[in-house]
Amino acid sequence: MIVLGIESSCDETAAAVIRDGRQILSSVVASQIEAHKGFGGVVPELASRMHIEAIEATVQSAIDQSGVSMAEIQGVAATRGPGLLGALLVGFSFAKAFAFARDLPLAGVNHLEAHIHSLFLTEPYPEFPFIALVVSGGHTNLYHVTSGQDFELMGQTRDDAVGESFDKVSRMLGLGYPGGPVLERLAKQADPSDLIAFPRTLLEKDKFDFSFSGLKSAVSRHIQGNPPTTEKDKARIAASFQASVIHVLTCKILSAAREKACSRVAVCGGVSANATFIDTLKSKASGQGIQVFAPPVSLCGDNAAMIAARGHAMLEKGQLSSMDEDVFSRNPY
Ligand code: KG4
Ligand code: ZN
Repeated sequence: MIVLGIESSCDETAAAVIRDGRQILSSVVASQIEAHKGFGGVVPELASRMHIEAIEATVQSAIDQSGVSMAEIQGVAATRGPGLLGALLVGFSFAKAFAFARDLPLAGVNHLEAHIHSLFLTEPYPEFPFIALVVSGGHTNLYHVTSGQDFELMGQTRDDAVGESFDKVSRMLGLGYPGGPVLERLAKQADPSDLIAFPRTLLEKDKFDFSFSGLKSAVSRHIQGNPPTTEKDKARIAASFQASVIHVLTCKILSAAREKACSRVAVCGGVSANATFIDTLKSKASGQGIQVFAPPVSLCGDNAAMIAARGHAMLEKGQLSSMDEDVFSRNPY
C-alpha cells in the first residue's frame, strides 16, 4: 500500500510517501527552526501560520519526489496529537481534505507512536518485544512495545522533557535554540575527568518516571554562582549536564529491560540524535547482553515518513479516522 504521511505537530511541516509501511519513496521536511531561533523556543502562533504557508508545497514536493502519481496513493496518515493545537489543525485538516477529495481512507496518528515506528524504516530494526524511550522536545516516555499496535507506557517525565532541558540549559548559556546539538558539540571539548556533580535524579527504584527540573535548577544555580567566562567553562557545564541526563536515561532504560525481561531496547525522538547518549547506552547495554536500536539521524527528529509508517499499520487494521475526528494536545495515555 502507498501512503501519504503529513506531520505538523510542532515546528516542522513534513510530508512523505512510503510503500508497504517500510520503504521511504520521499520524505520532505520544511523546518521553521530559523524563524523561532530569535525567541529561544517555538512560538505556537507563528508555527501555525508557517505551517499554513508551507503545507501545500511540502505535500506537492513529497509526491513529486516519490516517483508515484497522485492517483497511486492509497491512504493518508496525519498527526492528530499530541502537539500544538493550531499547528496540528493545519496538517490534519489538509489530510482530511486530501482524503475526502480523493475518497481515500484516513488515519489520525499519535505522534509518539509514530516516533517508535521510525525504528522500522531502516534495517536493522528491533523484533518485538522491546523497550522504547521516546525522547523529544516535549516528551520523555518509556514504553514496553509488544507489537506495532501495543505500547504500554511504563513511565514518563513528571516535569521537563529531556529535549526541553537541553533547550533551557542552552538558553542559560546564551547558546540558542535548539539546544541539543549545540550542547552535545560543546560538551566534547570538556575534560571528562573534571565534571560538576549535578543531580542524577532516579526517583523511586524500579519505577520508570523521570524528573529533570532539579537538574535544570542546579545548572541555573551553578551558572548564577559561577558565571562562565570562557568557552571551556561553558563546555564543562554542558558536559556535566549531559552526563547527568545520559546517566539517568541509561539506568532507567536498562532497568526497564530487566523488569520486562527484554533483550532489546530502542531510543527515538529528537534527542536520540545525540551520539554520545547512544554510544554510552550501547556500551552499558552490551555488558548485559542487550541490543540497542536507534533510527538514523535523519529520522530522529520530526518527519512524516514515521507518520506514514504508523498510519500504514492503522489503515491495514481498519483503524480509520472520520471527518469529525479532532486533534488533541496531550497524550491520551
Ligand atoms: O522529536 P523532535 O524533533 O521534536 C519534538 O517532537 O519535540 O525533538 C526536538 C528536540 C529539541 O529539544 C532538541 O534540542 C533535541 O530534540 N535534540 C537533541 C539533539 N538533537 C536534537 N538533544 C540532545 N542532543 C542532540 N544531539
Ligand atoms: Zn517529535
